[in-house]
Amino acid sequence: MTVTHNLNDVAEVATVPHPVDKASIVKSKVTHPPRSALDLLPLLGDAKRRSRTPIKQLYQYFFMPGMLSLSAGLPHPSSFAFRSLSATVPSMEAANVNGISSPAPELQVTIPFHPAPGSGPLQTSVALCNSLQYGTAQGILGLQTFLREHVEEIHHPPYADWDVITTVGNTDALDKAVSLIGTAGDYLLVDEWTYPAAIDTAASNGLHTTPIPMDQDGMIPEALERTLSTWPADRPRPKLLYLVPTGQNPTGATLPLLRRRAIYALAQSYNLIIIEDDPYYYLQFAPYQPAAERTNDSMDAQPGLSSLLPSFLSLDTDGRVLRLDSFSKILAPGSRCGWITTSKQFLPYLEYHNETTVQQPSGFSQAIITELLTNTWKHAGWSMYLKRLQYDYYQRRNLFIDQLAQHLNGLVDYVVPPAGMFCWIKLRLPSSLTGSRGADRDVMGDILEALVAERVIAIPGHYFAGQIDRAAMAQEPYFRTAFAHASPEDFGPALERMARALERFNLGDD
Ligand SMILES: Cc1ncc(COP(=O)(O)O)c(C=O)c1O
Repeated sequence: MTVTHNLNDVAEVATVPHPVDKASIVKSKVTHPPRSALDLLPLLGDAKRRSRTPIKQLYQYFFMPGMLSLSAGLPHPSSFAFRSLSATVPSMEAANVNGISSPAPELQVTIPFHPAPGSGPLQTSVALCNSLQYGTAQGILGLQTFLREHVEEIHHPPYADWDVITTVGNTDALDKAVSLIGTAGDYLLVDEWTYPAAIDTAASNGLHTTPIPMDQDGMIPEALERTLSTWPADRPRPKLLYLVPTGQNPTGATLPLLRRRAIYALAQSYNLIIIEDDPYYYLQFAPYQPAAERTNDSMDAQPGLSSLLPSFLSLDTDGRVLRLDSFSKILAPGSRCGWITTSKQFLPYLEYHNETTVQQPSGFSQAIITELLTNTWKHAGWSMYLKRLQYDYYQRRNLFIDQLAQHLNGLVDYVVPPAGMFCWIKLRLPSSLTGSRGADRDVMGDILEALVAERVIAIPGHYFAGQIDRAAMAQEPYFRTAFAHASPEDFGPALERMARALERFNLGDD
């Protein structure tokens, strides 16, 4: 990856236009009936071997009015140990609240055991007698309905027959997506630096990974094309492309719209399925300005939800995108809940997979999220929440970069991330440590040790190598830093410690 800006270029970085070019964002809002997805079932991989478990086929009858069930091993709800479920959440009513972390009024969400009288069919209610029961692999109906509406509002998928299915988060979804299309011996195309779980998921399913070169804007379409057009004849042609298009993990890169379009066109030409793993989608920010020049620093200056970059799903006229969304980065990682949006032809295979693994996300999690989104915040409150969260991370990003510029000036290169939680930094190692002398020594290992000794931690770049042999990349001089977990007041001290740890490596000396 080429890092083009360094700390002396901060002013330049600040003027680089945000990739969200509002004028160019014409989400594919269709005005005529969209066509159906292409028939892409010939691309199925291991999922071909999956089918519906027989008992689940009877589920449709279980909740029929008047049905007396002597069938399944569903415990009678009176045996459930939990009588109600409550959570305290931020209220989205208050005006002028800046960001999630600023004090905000709270309110209580409570889910009763039985549905309120007259509140609709039992199977659509979040009442605990229902949501803590075994359910169907698609997830609680109320949640599915909400997510469908949300996806339509945000992404406008431009083909007719798409739908959503709940997941236990994107890690779960990724494994399901890989084995839906992939099979042992296949190749997964990935970024040169990528989310390690993607590499491990591919490897554990017997897939090889092929890293595609990237730069500060993410995967380079020309490099992808080169790889595809020169693919060796003795290898199975790749069917799967894995991307983290927004605030990429680990580099923070965000694919601009033109690249998204170019990559989608290549997926069409080479008949690829795109796994769009996009947990940082809502965390897109207004451009960085150095603290002294920071103007118009308000929540309204952010992309909000109306000026987000179009997702691959919103470019997908063929039904070749498996879009993975997760509540992990926006509600809480422990919620273990997310959703896949894709063509209806793929969904049954994802359901069958759920039936033999997780069955469905936890009933507690689905119930409280459904109640929060459908009955408490509703779509307007959810949008407000996401905007506040986006603003919170914008402020974190700015503070982090301010401190990075102050404490690591001259020692590292980086690009200000336009989205997400990560800043990828390249150490300016002197040639004495990168040349032949450095090669006999585990310089990056020594640096990691020095960081830990100073009580500060960042992740060495090679952990994110887009190939299974990560050791081959062990001396690449990158670290992934995150501005998500530490308190903002600790950014300065943490980066000061980092500078101290780096002192004896003579960074920037050449
Ligand atoms: C790109 C990417 N995908 C997936 C995940 C994990 O998501 P989840 O918690 O939904 O399993 C992460 C978390 O760091 C991530 O960065």
